[in-house]
Amino acid sequence: MSSSTAIPWNELRAQARHATSTSYAPYSHVSVGACAVTTDGRFVVGANVENASYGLTLCAECSLVSDLARVGGGRLLAVSIVAGDGKPITPCGRCRQVLFEHGGNELLVDAGDDLDPTPLRELLPGAFGPAELDIRKSQ
Ligand code: THU
Repeated sequence: MSSSTAIPWNELRAQARHATSTSYAPYSHVSVGACAVTTDGRFVVGANVENASYGLTLCAECSLVSDLARVGGGRLLAVSIVAGDGKPITPCGRCRQVLFEHGGNELLVDAGDDLDPTPLRELLPGAFGPAELDIRKSQ
């Protein structure tokens, strides 16, 4: 699937919502699901997994990136992240960075029915990524 192909937003949202049923959120009681499509048309999903040591919680996007690696990697084209009500939520700061690694500036993030999808470059301006490492390596 190239970036010019229409993004299946309804499918992404539906799969993200379904993924909330696999969330483990006994502390916040906020179930989050995520679904992305890769540039070659595969769907990957994730859900949040909390921990009694609260700061160790894995967000739905972390789980999604693990799924991406599990199915062979590749680049993310578009992602929808939703809470249990099925409405898109904006990714937290850490997850913007996690998503950047696998989708870059052009990754489209679902912003809901009334807004255009947001390119990740607008959510994480001036991101630090693999290219920066290449420039900065001293040896
Ligand atoms: N959460 C995510 O899964 N993704 C985000 O981008 C924001 C927050 C989860 C973490 C925690 O389990 C719950 O939402 C409440 O913060």
